[in-house]
Amino acid sequence: MTKASDVFTLKNSNKVEVTFIGRGGQITGIKVPDAKGEIADVVIGYQTVEDALAGDGYFGALCGRYANRIVKGQFELEGTTYQLECNNGPNHLHGGVDGFNNRVWEVESVQDKRYEQAYKLSLVSEDGDQGYPGKLTVDVIYGLTEDNEFVIDYTANTTKATVINLTSHAYFNLKGAGTGTIEGHELELNASKYTPIDGEIGTVTGEIAPVKGTAMDFVDPKLIGEACNSNDPQVKLVDGIDHNFVIAGFDGALRIAARLVDPESGREMEVYTDQPGVQIYTGSHFDGSETGKLGAPIEKWAGVALETQIFPDSPNKENFPNAVLEPGKEYKHTCVYKFL
Ligand code: BGC
Repeated sequence: MTKASDVFTLKNSNKVEVTFIGRGGQITGIKVPDAKGEIADVVIGYQTVEDALAGDGYFGALCGRYANRIVKGQFELEGTTYQLECNNGPNHLHGGVDGFNNRVWEVESVQDKRYEQAYKLSLVSEDGDQGYPGKLTVDVIYGLTEDNEFVIDYTANTTKATVINLTSHAYFNLKGAGTGTIEGHELELNASKYTPIDGEIGTVTGEIAPVKGTAMDFVDPKLIGEACNSNDPQVKLVDGIDHNFVIAGFDGALRIAARLVDPESGREMEVYTDQPGVQIYTGSHFDGSETGKLGAPIEKWAGVALETQIFPDSPNKENFPNAVLEPGKEYKHTCVYKFL
């Protein structure tokens, strides 16, 4: 049986190293060399496993059963209205108080030719868990390739129709966790549309809007700081970016979603997914009160999360992609973080 504090490491011969723990499958570190061979830990977090277990439970964690927000925690499925717990103001966030980030996943090492090293993380979520219908069985593969790709491969099945949206919540800082904010990072997104949010309810309005002419335009590479420090009303609502972007050309095949570059260190990361969306979250709620890596305070905009996903509140938005999983069908989701 895996314990919350058990530590697992994936390594390849290029000195890339991914570390995670049993609780939430939380990624507690990703070490990546820059062009000169200087190694930095590029995910923000704490200095010890003890601090990770006591601290922000979303850092690097697997989120589910429904990552992101469901308005008022309610949705209707096959004629039944389900009420989930509201753990984020009037809304349900990341699967509820006891979301998958809070569970101890069963971890085993697996052999797979595609990966230098890989682990399988498994979880069973009982029928009624956090208010969701159906017993859900989830397997997640964490695999590291020789091409510096950290692959997260999700599969799940259910005994009754349910809604599902799994994601990984690592916040990246390619200069190195604890070295300042990501304002100087360049972000490029394969998205000409995004889903605006409503300030009062804190979640998506249901609109799919063009990014052109807004702070959300990352069609060409742009400094994250330029967007975060702008007066765009969508930015002002959340003091940064906390928005879902619509991946262009989505057809269920793996495609590029994002490219993140730190010009100072030269480290680059590409994100690929087969999902329709990616939530870009610049960590606006960090307030410096917690101590993170290198002993530095975890400040606002200390890292950026790129969470591949179905859109927020899809169960209540007819024009959004379908998040329903039927019995006999398999939920599949691949996310690749590739370090260049
Ligand atoms: C959401 C934020 C939320 C954060 C919690 C992100 O995925 O988009 O709104 O505050 O998770 O860690």
